[in-house]
Amino acid sequence: MPILQPDETYQLLRNLTSPVVAITSERGGKRNGMIADSAVRASIVPAIPRVSVYVHKFNYSHDLIFETGRYVLHLLRDDQFELIHRLGFTSGRARDKLAHVPHHTGTLGVPVLDDCYAHFECRVANIMDTGSSTCFLGDVVAVGHGAGDRPSGTVMTAAHFRAHMPAEWRGEYEALLRAAQAYAAERSRDIRPMVWRGLQGRE
Ligand SMILES: Cc1cc2nc3c(=O)[nH]c(=O)nc-3n(C[C@H](O)[C@H](O)[C@H](O)COP(=O)(O)O)c2cc1C
Repeated sequence: MPILQPDETYQLLRNLTSPVVAITSERGGKRNGMIADSAVRASIVPAIPRVSVYVHKFNYSHDLIFETGRYVLHLLRDDQFELIHRLGFTSGRARDKLAHVPHHTGTLGVPVLDDCYAHFECRVANIMDTGSSTCFLGDVVAVGHGAGDRPSGTVMTAAHFRAHMPAEWRGEYEALLRAAQAYAAERSRDIRPMVWRGLQGRE
C-alpha cells in the first residue's frame, strides 16, 4: 500500500469539507458572525433535525457559542463571496462584523441573516473537544430561507469558494489557513473529556 505524504492526505480530506456556512451567535447584546466549512447534517430523523460544526477555540464565535449554547447556521448561495470575506477573514472581537449585513433577531435571540440560501437556528445539544476546536452538536429549533417562497440559487461549496474567490484575497486566505493550522498543530493532541450539561443557569 503506498504511503501518502501529509499534504496528499490533506488534499484527499478536502473532499470531506462541507458547504461554506455562516455561523452567527450572540452574547449579552454582542452579536457576531463567522464562516465555516465543517458543518454536517447530524441526524437522519426528519422530526429531530440536527447539525454539527467544528469551531476553533481562537475564534470569538467559539466563546459566544460555548457560553450561550446557541447559534444559527446559514447555507449560502454560490454568489455570496463578499459575505464570506466579511465574516471569515477577520475577527469580530474588535468590531461588529454584522453592522452592514441585513439581519433580524431569530427565535433564540441570535441574528439571522436575511440573505442566504437557508438558515437553521440551533440549541447546543452536546459538544466534543478536539484540543484545538469544539464540535457543537445542535438541535435545530427553527428553519427558514432567504427572500421568496423557497430557497433559490445554488449552495456555495468549499471547492467553489476556493476556485472562484477574487485573486486578491487568495494570499490572505492562505496565510489565515496556515496560521489556523499552526494553532491546531500545537493543540490537537490535548483532548479534554467534556460533558455538555446545558447552561447550568448561565443564561
Ligand atoms: C472558507 C472558510 C472556511 C472556514 N472554516 C472554518 C471552520 O470550519 N472552523 C473555524 O473555526 N473557522 C473556519 N474559518 C475561519 C473563521 O471564519 C475565521 O477565523 C473568522 O475570522 C472567525 O471570526 P470570529 O473571531 O469573529 O469568530 C473559515 C474561513 C473561511 C474563509
